[in-house]
Amino acid sequence: MERTFIAIKPDGVQRGLISEIVSRFERKGFKLVGIKVVVPSKDFAQKHYHVLMERPFFNGLALVLLFAMVWEGEGVIRYGRKLIGATDPQKSEPGTIRGDLAVVVGRNIIHGSDGPETAKDEINLWFKPQELVSYTNNAEKWIYGDN
Ligand code: GTP
Ligand code: MG
Repeated sequence: MERTFIAIKPDGVQRGLISEIVSRFERKGFKLVGIKVVVPSKDFAQKHYHVLMERPFFNGLALVLLFAMVWEGEGVIRYGRKLIGATDPQKSEPGTIRGDLAVVVGRNIIHGSDGPETAKDEINLWFKPQELVSYTNNAEKWIYGDN
C-alpha cells in the first residue's frame, strides 16, 4: 500500500498543533505506520530540502524540530497534499491544514512528500526500515469495503 512522509515542522510543534494535524489524517482513514520526534543537525535537515538549495529562503528552512510520520493508504501521497493545502497559507483553501492553521509561507507548519519518488526518498531519509510497522487496522473493511 502507498506510503508518504508527513512532518509537522517546528512552528506546528511549538504551537501545539500535533494532535489536530494527526487527527485530520486519522479521521480521513489513513493509517499511521511510523512516528518519531526528531531534533536533526542542520546538515541532516538540509538534505531534506536539497532541491531548494538555490532558493533565497533556503537558510531559513529551519527544520530544527520535527514530528515525523509515515502515513499509509490508497492515494495518500496526493490526498495528503490536499489535506495540507497550498504552500502559501494565504492561498490555501479553508478546510485545509495550512488554510485553517497557518498565515505565512515561511511558517506553514507541515510538510508532505510531493510524489512517489520523493515519498520513497524522504521515508528512507528520516526512518530506518525497522522503525516502520505493518498491521491490520480493524476499521479497514469499513474504510475500503470488502474488495
Ligand atoms: P513542503 O511540503 O514543506 O515541501 O512544501 P511545498 O511542497 O508545498 O512547497 P516547496 O517544496 O516548494 O517548498 C518547501 C518549503 O519551503 C515550503 O513549505 C515553505 O516552508 C518554504 N518556502 C517555499 N517558498 C517560500 C517562499 O517564497 N518564502 C519562504 N520564506 N519560504 C518558502
Ligand atoms: Mg515540497
